[in-house]
Amino acid sequence: MRVLITGGSGLIGRALTKRLVAHEHEVVILSRSPERVTGLPAGARAIGWDAATADGWAHEADGAGAIVNLAGANLGAGRWTEARKQVSLESRLRATQAVVEAITSADTPPPVLVQGSAVGRYGDSGDQVLTEDVTPAPSSDDFLALVVREWEAASAPVEAAGVRRVIARTGVVLDDDEGALPRLAMPVRFFVGGPVGGGKQWVPWIHRADEASALHFLIEHADASGAYNLAAPESATNAQLTRAVGRALGRPTVMPVPGFAIRLLLGEQAQVVLDSLRAVPARLTAAGWTPRFGDLDEAVRDLLG
Ligand SMILES: NC(=O)c1ccc[n+]([C@@H]2O[C@H](COP(=O)([O-])OP(=O)(O)OC[C@H]3O[C@@H](n4cnc5c(N)ncnc54)[C@H](OP(=O)(O)O)[C@@H]3O)[C@@H](O)[C@H]2O)c1
Repeated sequence: MRVLITGGSGLIGRALTKRLVAHEHEVVILSRSPERVTGLPAGARAIGWDAATADGWAHEADGAGAIVNLAGANLGAGRWTEARKQVSLESRLRATQAVVEAITSADTPPPVLVQGSAVGRYGDSGDQVLTEDVTPAPSSDDFLALVVREWEAASAPVEAAGVRRVIARTGVVLDDDEGALPRLAMPVRFFVGGPVGGGKQWVPWIHRADEASALHFLIEHADASGAYNLAAPESATNAQLTRAVGRALGRPTVMPVPGFAIRLLLGEQAQVVLDSLRAVPARLTAAGWTPRFGDLDEAVRDLLG
């Protein structure tokens, strides 16, 4: 089948592309700069879009097997100024409106939309185990939860067109090159690593290969709809994750970083590191999905070792 991935040039999109073409699917990546999307495997190609309308690419959606909607300005790219926060939200809403437009105007709409989302939707939750039936109750100043809520909601109109909608509430995707893991590993490499903000907060980690396999599973599983947590079955605390990185790199992790220092450094964005989200993939597990990397040490060693 043909699978369209908006924002498919990013960390998750590339892992998913690799997985889908290995399973003989055709992948079309929607990118604002398709000429810069290089090194794609055979079976994948990048096309241009403006990330705001269906102009010029809607024909690719017509008759496609699935659309995976991941596009949006990177929330880890720098301090959250008001301007950056606005771009984060608006880029996701505009891109999602374009996807909805392409789907609802297609003669043969794709049977499934996998809508990007994040476990941040639940809000900082301490030790509470977050299954999908927990009603999110983020605080009113939780920007991440607000973005995710609006992003999810923007995709709802496709259901009226009879399209199955899966909401992929993703945890922290571990990758060797981008995202949280290299940022965590850097101080550890230089012997100045340690737990952050007390280290007791839960991190719903997932290896990039399992993120791709879970998305693939949800595309193909015709019964899947609604919200799914994408995370390893056992979350780790920030201290456990830091220690796993230390073991993989053969370094000590005895230099704790206090929460106030992170807040000073990152401002509001510190919530990404300090919030506790013990999300588990209850619905994926019940549906029969199993991760390749359920063990944290094995996952981190695979990426950093
Ligand atoms: N990685 C994680 O741990 C994680 C966890 C939970 C949720 N998520 C969410 O899942 C999605 C995919 O994650 P990712 O890590 O693959 O993200 P990523 O590496 O930042 O890639 C997202 C892609 O979105 C496109 N994009 C960037 N700015 C944009 C803008 N202003 N308007 C429209 N498109 C824009 C870019 O593609 P082009 O430049 O080619 O257009 C980029 O490659 C993101 O929305 C992210 O917030 C990620």
